[in-house]
Amino acid sequence: MGGRDRSRTRTSMRDKPIGVFDSGVGGLTVVCAVQKILPRESIIYFGDTAHVPYGTKSKQAIKKFSLHNARFLVKFNIKLLIVACNSSSALALPELEKRFSIPVLGVIEPTAEKAVKICKKKIGVIATPATIESGIYQRTIRKINKRQNKSIKVFTQECPLFVPLAEEGWLENKISEQIARRYLSFLRDKIDSLILGCTHYPLLKKIIKKAVGKRVILIDSATETAKAAREILKERNLLALSKKGRIRFYVSDSPQRFKKLGKKFLKKSIGRVECIKLE
Ligand code: DGL
Repeated sequence: MGGRDRSRTRTSMRDKPIGVFDSGVGGLTVVCAVQKILPRESIIYFGDTAHVPYGTKSKQAIKKFSLHNARFLVKFNIKLLIVACNSSSALALPELEKRFSIPVLGVIEPTAEKAVKICKKKIGVIATPATIESGIYQRTIRKINKRQNKSIKVFTQECPLFVPLAEEGWLENKISEQIARRYLSFLRDKIDSLILGCTHYPLLKKIIKKAVGKRVILIDSATETAKAAREILKERNLLALSKKGRIRFYVSDSPQRFKKLGKKFLKKSIGRVECIKLE
């Protein structure tokens, strides 16, 4: 291939979309951050609303659903796959990396990197049961600790009720505050930073902060993942050239509910949502 052909190929690659998937609406917190940091990028979003929640399902089920979601997105000729769901990132990432030739970015590594950077001594991780049980944050932080010669201690807590609370829009009421206290009061005065290891938790920042103490720094995976996506695209010379990226939404069930809930997560209204069946 001649030089001009090669650069034309590269240009067309740059304008390919980024694929993002999640178990449902939660991954829109990641989309929101990607749109802020990479406004020129086009996105194809898939929310597996027929199978949500993933966080209380088995490893086998999460792996299978994640694989189906990725296969669907790859058909759009995406240049990067972002696994916005913490539970999928915890359990399915190596499998996805093995199966597809495009770069695959999960939310765990960028979040853990940032956490170790800002944490002084003790870090908390809150996430779904699937993510906590996988031990992925503990392992990743241990690995970074070793590399950086640090000795940060990790405390974990699963908070499954936070997902329905966020979807219900109960972000600050008394019941939500009580639930947050019940889950998190043991972390109060113990940790200096806290990883919000689930797509839904950024919406509950206020009550989480109240429960763990206002000095604790909250680290959310959306922003760190978007920054990591920018680095990957930059490194590979794949940053989009277009003026403004576009977005298309697909779900596996209940597009109307996705539209309604999605607004809170994306912080703006959602246009057309197509419902598709995945096998
Ligand atoms: N997206 C999931 C996660 O980040 C939360 C919702 C679910 O359990 O499916 O782990």
